[in-house]
Amino acid sequence: MDHFVKWFRNSTPYINAHRGKTFVVCISGEAVAAPGFQDLAQDLTLLTSLGVRLVLVHGVGPQLAQRLAGAALELTHHEHIPVLPAAALPALKTAIGATRLDIEAAFSSGLPQTPMDGAGLRVVAGNFVIARPVGVRGGVDHHHSGEIRRLETVAIRQMLQQEAVVLLSPIGYSTTGEAFFLQTEAVATHAAIALGADKLIFLEEGEEEADARAGSNRPDQLDPGQAERLAGAAGFPPARRAAWMGCIQAGRGGVPRAHLIPRRREGALLQELFTRDGIGTLITAGKYDVVREATVEDIGGLLALIAPLEARGILVHRSREQLELEIGNFVVMQRDQAILACAALYGFADEDAGEIACVAVDPDYRELGLGHELLAHLEQRAWTRGLRRLFVLTTQTAHWFIEHGYRPARIEDLPVARQALYNYKRNSKVFLKTLEAAPATRRP
Ligand SMILES: CC(C)(COP(=O)(O)OP(=O)(O)OC[C@H]1O[C@@H](n2cnc3c(N)ncnc32)[C@H](O)[C@@H]1OP(=O)(O)O)[C@@H](O)C(=O)NCCC(=O)NCCS
Repeated sequence: MDHFVKWFRNSTPYINAHRGKTFVVCISGEAVAAPGFQDLAQDLTLLTSLGVRLVLVHGVGPQLAQRLAGAALELTHHEHIPVLPAAALPALKTAIGATRLDIEAAFSSGLPQTPMDGAGLRVVAGNFVIARPVGVRGGVDHHHSGEIRRLETVAIRQMLQQEAVVLLSPIGYSTTGEAFFLQTEAVATHAAIALGADKLIFLEEGEEEADARAGSNRPDQLDPGQAERLAGAAGFPPARRAAWMGCIQAGRGGVPRAHLIPRRREGALLQELFTRDGIGTLITAGKYDVVREATVEDIGGLLALIAPLEARGILVHRSREQLELEIGNFVVMQRDQAILACAALYGFADEDAGEIACVAVDPDYRELGLGHELLAHLEQRAWTRGLRRLFVLTTQTAHWFIEHGYRPARIEDLPVARQALYNYKRNSKVFLKTLEAAPATRRP
């Protein structure tokens, strides 16, 4: 029970953060055909119950392959683009039709004792994607293979507003009334950008992807540049490239967060969205700022940042010499060449304790979460160094620390060595946070 209560409380910030947001979730045809699809549909239903506006994009890989094989046809590729002859179009239409029906059926179940009980969710599919033919490339006619021209975003938004799940298939219609086969990942990426979605989520296939991140080399968080380097490296699985490139493109196209989640891992979607560290890889362009250890070269920038705060009595005065001596304790957040923020962690290793000090954000960059990020970074550092009790002494910023989980403490609670240095004239308030688990690496 304790575990449940703790887990539920910890998930609250994520529930609040996701409410009213638009998520584009891309699943493969394999996911729909898999025995666990009903569970995935339940997890997606849960998202909508928590107020998420859901656009679901599905693939048709195995469904199409099966029907093409039945018609003694095969999908060929030219320059990584499928070539879909007119003879294969009926197979595509039946594959998409059948997959849509399976999805609609899964979302319609409402058995008692399941999360679907009483959900009454509507799934809406339609002619939301306008396409044009790929045409002839390198002398090869791609026939019914198409590219996305635009999305009917107004119509999709109306459906989302009515709390329906919008279902998009890898097919688009041209203004001449023809149907064209589209790449599923491209539909999802395009939809996320065009709708200004808050998240683009790919549920990735692959046995190795079923491993938890801890047991694999799956990176936790990347910016689009890092993700591009990784996806472009030799040995990167070609089957995963389209989803990765979609996340990169979405990140650059203004989608704040793109997630790659192992589909075969039970409950991966919920773990990614409602736990502190997630389970997949998050690609976010939000990380323009580099947090790094300070060096003596930063002292000029540090002084410029903290001197005005020292003058106002918010921070304790530190001379240039003192900063030089203590520079190893400082981290800075840098954008281009400018130092936007700094903070320090002083360790008292024999007491498993640390002091957070000198947290300062350039006034032009306040209230953007930089202070939060820096504090989270120092808490991570403290955790890795085995420091479990974190102190902070402050005169004017008490509430900010309280909001970050720090609780009032007494001077006697400070490490003995720090008590001796306590400045009674300054009369700072003491706050303490006990780290019980590794601090979160991601914000809600
Ligand atoms: C405190 C400080 C580091 C926060 O940095 P930041 O990047 O603006 O913080 P975040 O964006 O993560 O958080 C902003 C939130 O903190 C609140 N906040 C900022 N300063 C606060 C303070 N002194 N007391 C209480 N809340 C404060 C803001 O109102 C905002 O709340 P909201 O999102 O509910 O509107 C920054 O204001 C600063 O440099 N202050 C001067 C130096 C200082 O006081 N340092 C601490 C002494 S060690």
